[in-house]
Amino acid sequence: MSKFVKSMIFASAAAFLLTAGYSAPVVAQDAMQTKRLALMKDNGKSLRAAMGGDKAAAATIAANAKMLSDASFWAKGSGPGTRAKAEVFSDFADFKAKMVAMQTAAEAAAAGTGEPAAVRATCGGCHKLYRGPELK
Ligand code: HEC
Repeated sequence: MSKFVKSMIFASAAAFLLTAGYSAPVVAQDAMQTKRLALMKDNGKSLRAAMGGDKAAAATIAANAKMLSDASFWAKGSGPGTRAKAEVFSDFADFKAKMVAMQTAAEAAAAGTGEPAAVRATCGGCHKLYRGPELK
């Protein structure tokens, strides 16, 4: 088969998928959860370092919090087997405020004007309200 014919078949298959609206949103939402879980895992690692006095790690948490406070990470229905409770999506303004509070606490810890323990308190404060039980 010529390269041209192959690319035509590929192009029409892609056009079909686009017009049919198949799979794209589902894939995007899985990717959304993958991204937010990666940032949360990094928060865990960075918090341990920040508790040991690593200010750069506190700055990393602040940067992660800034990203995570964006609604683009939290679309309703995103993520198969998510631990995000329904309230994340129904009370997003409050959820976001808690994310911003984490950012503020982490910025203070990075600047040396706040304690890393205050950052840790914001993690638990949000998880208690907005994260469901472990699934496995
Ligand atoms: C404003 C709310 C909020 C804050 C603040 C927050 N988290 Fe989370 N976290 C969540 C939610 C919701 C999930 C579940 C996401 C999912 O399952 O899709 C989660 C998941 C996690 C996970 C699980 C990741 C995985 O791979 O399963 C870890 C670890 C974690 N958070 C650590 C932290 C740490 C450490 C902090 C503080 C430095 C923090 N989180 C602050 C809401 C928050």
